[in-house]
Amino acid sequence: MFDTMTVTKAGGALCGALLIFLLGKWAAEGLYNTAPPRHGDEEVAQAYTIDTGAGGGEAAAAEEGPDFATVFATADAAAGEKAFGKCKACHKIDGSNGTGPHLDGVVGRAVASVEGFAFSDGMKAHGGDWTPEALNDFLANPKGVVAGTKMSFAGLPKVEDRANLIAYLSSLGG
Ligand code: HEC
Repeated sequence: MFDTMTVTKAGGALCGALLIFLLGKWAAEGLYNTAPPRHGDEEVAQAYTIDTGAGGGEAAAAEEGPDFATVFATADAAAGEKAFGKCKACHKIDGSNGTGPHLDGVVGRAVASVEGFAFSDGMKAHGGDWTPEALNDFLANPKGVVAGTKMSFAGLPKVEDRANLIAYLSSLGG
């Protein structure tokens, strides 16, 4: 039936097929690496640097240095008058309201109490009085302290600027 040559050819064909199959498997493993992905140093580092805390750095920076009471004790109202230049576009000090409520007499005044001014719900919910400390907190980070405020002002990061400004506001009647 089969001569030796036929058996040898069939065996050779089988071996060849096996070899091609093994080579194919090896090539496929090389191309499509199924091992768990290895994280390069860069990727690992990135996983730890993702920080979505918006403004977190600024808020922390605002808390550094001497505390408010110490700075406020020697605050300079004249310097505060200059700092008030940043507020003038929205706040008047003659008892009339602009984009923001008038600020004459604001120190010690109840929050969101100015007649005829449409305060945001966030400001109305804040409550309390505008003590120097409350003003200091608010002015450091308006949107962080009064969620939903419509005061579009980034804040004064320096405690000296805030203290001087509050000293100036205290000097205004109302
Ligand atoms: C772009 C306009 C704008 C600027 C600039 C601005 N404010 Fe305001 N401010 C507002 C508005 C609007 C409100 C009312 C906020 C609300 O109802 O949420 C407000 C509210 C306030 C209040 C609360 C008043 C109250 O009667 O409860 C204080 C205090 C205040 N601002 C201080 C300041 C100071 C100090 C500065 C400058 C460092 C300043 N603002 C800069 C628009 C501004």
